This record gives sequence, structure tokens and C-alpha cells, in this order.
Amino acid sequence: MMIKNTADCFSPSKIAGLTLKNRIIRAGCFEGMCQNGQVTDKLIEHHRQVAEGGVAMTTVAYCSVSEDGRAFEHELWMRKEILPDLIRLTASVHAEGASASIQLGHCGFFTNKKVIGKQPMGASAKWCTFCMSYSREMTVHDIEEKTDDFIRAAELAKEAGFNAVELHAGHGYLLSQFLSPWTNKRKDKFGGSLENRLRFPMMVIEGVKKAVGSDFPVLVKMNQLDGMSGGISITEALKIAKEFEKAGADALIPSAGFTSKVPFLMLRGNLPVKEMSENQPSLLNRIGLKLFGRFMVPEHPYEPLFLFEGAKRIKEAVNIPVIYIGGADSLAGIQKLMDTGFEFVQVGRATIQDPDFVKKLQSGELTESPCDHCNRCVAAMDAGGVYCVSNEVGFM
Ligand SMILES: Cc1cc2nc3c(=O)[nH]c(=O)nc-3n(C[C@H](O)[C@H](O)[C@H](O)COP(=O)(O)O)c2cc1C
Repeated sequence: MMIKNTADCFSPSKIAGLTLKNRIIRAGCFEGMCQNGQVTDKLIEHHRQVAEGGVAMTTVAYCSVSEDGRAFEHELWMRKEILPDLIRLTASVHAEGASASIQLGHCGFFTNKKVIGKQPMGASAKWCTFCMSYSREMTVHDIEEKTDDFIRAAELAKEAGFNAVELHAGHGYLLSQFLSPWTNKRKDKFGGSLENRLRFPMMVIEGVKKAVGSDFPVLVKMNQLDGMSGGISITEALKIAKEFEKAGADALIPSAGFTSKVPFLMLRGNLPVKEMSENQPSLLNRIGLKLFGRFMVPEHPYEPLFLFEGAKRIKEAVNIPVIYIGGADSLAGIQKLMDTGFEFVQVGRATIQDPDFVKKLQSGELTESPCDHCNRCVAAMDAGGVYCVSNEVGFM
């Protein structure tokens, strides 16, 4: 008989050794506030505000594990020199009574040659229209080196006072590029069968878990669906989820989409082509996006809890907590997730639209987010920092 988990979304719960004060976590939403790869006061204030707004934990979004994993100049990469600033960030989040996590990843084949100063590398050699460059296939030495970079980055995050790390194995980032047959054409032990495609992500999860210890949560964001033919489907995603659990993941976040191919599958809603093209650093990209954006980037209509069915199947396949993500923007929706047995939810745009979203749900001032999914916040993140362009209730 199924036992229904009817937890209150404002009640505390645990992931590994970490107690979170409620079930709502700010999803990793790239802030665009790390100009020249530095932690800025704006980034710290952004997360302080999110923490003050009532989430149990905020997530500092995409942080590369090494300097060569960046697609933009204003992306962070983990290194000893930024620890004092990261310590300021985690301290200001903690002072607001929330925990802090950081998303660690690598862009792989869609890193930007101009930003990293060398040829991008990925699971296999591949042309990237998004960054107009051709990547090379990673050697076994590269794979071992990036595994060590993930481990070192997680250790530094722990030293900086973060309460958890989130490894990015979804959205077409490097680990996802190894998992996906769309990007992984390798003939060695890192390509071909699912077991082989899993090898590198498993080395990373196992290595990170061993390094940070059993009490320190290692969350893994993964794809329940890549979203293009030749990509990961739910059938493989169920197997991947079970393997990630075996490797030591403490919780899974089953998202969807591939940044370089179907970026809006993870978001749904309006395609802000005009705003996105205006913010492209190169003239070629600006013109290309403006002319062909609608054809290059598929549109997906928004609906609440848009990743529910796949996430539920993943939850049923594993014994670790599954953190729901995707359109959890109302009290009724979040409560439905609790009733289905999800331990936690991650919320993105609702907290960009209004950093006090959770506080307002709890007080009864709001029952759902007024975010209209115009997605212009996605364009704003590359033009000085993310904020809600629609109504400017949120940050700035
Ligand atoms: C402005 C913006 C930036 C984002 N940046 C990231 C990112 O850096 N890493 C990531 O995994 N997901 C990123 N996402 C996707 C979110 O984590 C989340 O999957 C998506 O917004 C769906 O959740 P929501 O419906 O609650 O907004 C971003 C989303 C937005 C709106």
C-alpha cells in the first residue's frame, strides 16, 4: 500500500546531515553578477535577499569547476582566491536563517573560446552554433583532470561555508554531454553503452561524495529528458537516477533540456528572442539570433508543474529524496508535490519575480506567483544581472 507523505511544505526536513527549515529551495538561476569571474557585492546581496525571503536554502548558480569551463566572462570559477568573498556570501545567507548551496559544473563543448583562451572540449568533437566553435574530444587525462577539479571545487565550497553542493549533470553541461548519445560518440570506455556513458559522471559523484563526507549533502541535477531525438529519454533517466543514488548522491533534481539545443524545455513560456539577441556580445550572434532565433530555439508553452510526470517516476525509482523543479509556483502546486512524496521543491522564477515569494506564501499574502513567464529575466542575466523585467517587483 502506498503511504502518502502529507508533509507541510513549511516544516523542516533533512538531506544527509543538513536540516532545512522548510521544503523550498531557490533553484540555481544564473545571476550574471560575477563580472570578470569575481564574487560581487551584488551577488552577495542577491542571495541575502533570497534568504531573507523565506527559502530554506538558496543556490548560487552556475559556478565552473575550472577556468576552462566557462561560456561567459561573467561566470564564476572555483578557486582559492575567491574564498574570502564566498565566505562573506555564505555568512550573509546564514545570518538570514537560511542555508546555502552552490551549483558546480563545466560547460564542455559550449564553453566560449574567447573567454577560456583555448579550444573548448567535450565528450566528442562537435560544432557549436551557439558559440561558433568546434570542440575537441576529451582525452582520458582530461577526464581524470576534470574529475579532480569537481572534487577540489566541492572541497573549496565546503571550506567557504556552503551547506551543500549541487553537481550539474543535466541541461547539456559537460556531465550531461557524456550521458547523452546526442553529444557522446566515443568509442572507448566512456562512450557507447549507458554503463560507459555513466562512467565519468559516476567518477565525479563518487569522488565528490568521498571528499566532502557523509554529512555534507551532494545534490545532483540531472535530465529526465534531453528533449531532442537521439538524446536521453525517461527510460534511460530512470537507470541514471538509480546509478547516481549508488554513486552517493544524497538527492536528485530531475530537470530537462539541453542548453545548446532546446534551452527552453527547462523553462517553458515566452521566448524573449529580441532581448536575448540584444545582449549577445558578438555582432554575428546578435544578427543570427534576431533573424533565426524563432527557428533555432524551439518554444514550449508553460504550464504549472510542467516536469511532474517524469519527476514522479524518478522519485518512485530511488530511495533518496527527489527535489522537484519546474513550475512549482503556487501553494497548491507545492502542496501537491508534498502529497506526492517529494521531499523538497526548487523554485526559480517565482523568487526572481519576488524574493519574498516564500514568506508571502507562508503568511497568506500570496497563493501563487504573479510571474508571467515572459522569460526576459533570462535575457537580463547577460546584461548586468538577473531581475524581473516584467514588473520590477524583485531585485534592483
Ligand atoms: C534567469 C534564469 C537563469 C537560470 N540559470 C540556471 C543555471 O545557471 N543552472 C541551472 O541548472 N538552471 C538554471 N535555470 C533553470 C532553473 O534552475 C529552473 O530549472 C527553471 O527556471 C524552472 O524552474 P521555475 O519554473 O521554478 O522557474 C535558470 C533559470 C532562469 C529563469
